[in-house]
Amino acid sequence: MLTANSLSLCDYLSALPGMLRGRAFQRAALRRELAACFGVDEARIGLYDTGRAALRVLLQQHGIGAGDEVIVPAYTCVVVPNQIPALSASLRFVDVSAGTLNFDWDVLAAAIGPATRAVIVPHNYGLPCRVPEALRAAHPQVKFIDDAAHGFASQLDGQWLGSYHDGAFFSFEYSKNLTGGIGGLAIFPPGMTTPQQDWPELSCADEWRLLATLKAHLLSARWPLLGRITMAINRRLGLIYRSADAEVTQGVPHPVRAMPLLSSVLVRRQLAHLPATLAHKQALAQRYQQALAALPSITQWAVPAAAACHWVRYPFALSRPVANKAALARRLSQASGLNIGVWFDDVIHPAGSFRHGYVAGSAPQGERLAATVLNLPMNIALADNAALAHKLDRLLAELRRIEKENIQ
Ligand SMILES: Cc1ncc(COP(=O)(O)O)c(C=O)c1O
Repeated sequence: MLTANSLSLCDYLSALPGMLRGRAFQRAALRRELAACFGVDEARIGLYDTGRAALRVLLQQHGIGAGDEVIVPAYTCVVVPNQIPALSASLRFVDVSAGTLNFDWDVLAAAIGPATRAVIVPHNYGLPCRVPEALRAAHPQVKFIDDAAHGFASQLDGQWLGSYHDGAFFSFEYSKNLTGGIGGLAIFPPGMTTPQQDWPELSCADEWRLLATLKAHLLSARWPLLGRITMAINRRLGLIYRSADAEVTQGVPHPVRAMPLLSSVLVRRQLAHLPATLAHKQALAQRYQQALAALPSITQWAVPAAAACHWVRYPFALSRPVANKAALARRLSQASGLNIGVWFDDVIHPAGSFRHGYVAGSAPQGERLAATVLNLPMNIALADNAALAHKLDRLLAELRRIEKENIQ
């Protein structure tokens, strides 16, 4: 999948000399810069090695533990529910709305019970939403924590996503809005500060793996063949950094670690050109929206008037579920020359992940989204030009063929 969405080759190359300034300097600078973006006090910024680790710390700081229930959207990545049993809390999946990609507030309200202490609020693909005031007021014992992994710099009513509920976490993993290779950010709610703890550091070998893996992603986004060759060489040399298999297949929680030095430097580089990145991606999203509008059977999601969405990928849905979305995405990618993604391919992504007791059929809307939603890349290496328009024409032609096959 084409990733490193907002990272330029120049950011990547200039990160290496930047690393010479050391962890303490780079993390302090990043904390300061992020606090300014979100308009919050620096003490409310926590930097970790992943978004999932940031979630774990937020839940811990809210005192979630044995006997507490945490509500998780039934359309998410497995690493989110993985963190909850680790705190001895129980988790309950609640369906999302196919109309918004996020929660249906009435369904959520009905699901909140006497043991519920926290709700993980999704902002899938970066679409920001706000929990109705009445719902928060009715459940003062419940903390609403934003899973903003997909929506760094999305905004609602002029406020940055992550600054208006009971804390939020973001991801800087390879495929997210900004990437540090890996990385996680917690925004703690007012009055709560980042715990003063020396988290374990990523090993030096892993930091080199991150650097090598990111290079392959960057090249893939620009010169796919070169990217594939680089990735194959990395694999041979054991220079791929990725999540432990046991997290996906056995639901093993990820331990909390500090944000790597490389990630801190890279995120700072991307923050420096964030306005240009957002403008570029907005133009891409507009181009996609206009192109797909020519096919009325395709569903798209409108950004509310009061919002600005930093799409992590641009989602669209087919009119009917497909049995093998991965094969379909490959077919569309080949036909169009665009990198078509499959997020999420199951209510607990990726397909085949540990289920955490999820009962098939209990989240019909999440299941439908998982079987119908595909997505388009949001990458600064993708120019909004005539070549893109031509690729979109080819995508549309193939989608028309697929929709016709579906009807027959
Ligand atoms: C919706 C969502 N939340 C959280 C995460 C976890 O982020 P990280 O990989 O940084 O732990 C992901 C990861 O892909 C995700 O898709």
